[in-house]
Amino acid sequence: VISPTHKFFASIGGFQHIYANREAMVGYRTRAFPEGSIVVVDWLEMREKESVFEEGARRQVDVMVKDSRRFAKTGGWGFQRFVKDSQTELAATPTPEECFACHEKLKKDGLILSSYRQ
Ligand code: HEC
Repeated sequence: VISPTHKFFASIGGFQHIYANREAMVGYRTRAFPEGSIVVVDWLEMREKESVFEEGARRQVDVMVKDSRRFAKTGGWGFQRFVKDSQTELAATPTPEECFACHEKLKKDGLILSSYRQ
């Protein structure tokens, strides 16, 4: 959750849910993500109503797909951001190369930056 006190709340504030398919869950447990792993971040705005935070509109959906051959140039992962609720419209920025550059810079044991809470 990115709080209303964050200076970029207007553009990134709210909830992020992370979803992983079966292959990616193996990766979260072992930190070696198999081919076919898919991880999705669902970004939702946050509204406050009578001191309760609620989910608002969808900002975007970020997707990472592990396919070492297809995405060899970006570390074996495909990166893509879908605009709002669209399943086809891609965000102009950041580009897949920019996504990769940040994940590559922050990485410790692979391009997946989050970890699984036991
Ligand atoms: C400025 C740095 C930065 C950029 C640019 C960036 N990410 Fe991330 N991304 C992160 C960080 C940090 C996390 C981990 C967040 C957490 O632990 O909750 C993350 C998490 C993710 C995850 C969940 C899996 C993981 O690695 O933890 C996906 C999927 C994802 N990003 C996709 C993308 C896509 C697609 C783009 C480009 C459209 C992108 N990211 C651009 C920093 C970045």
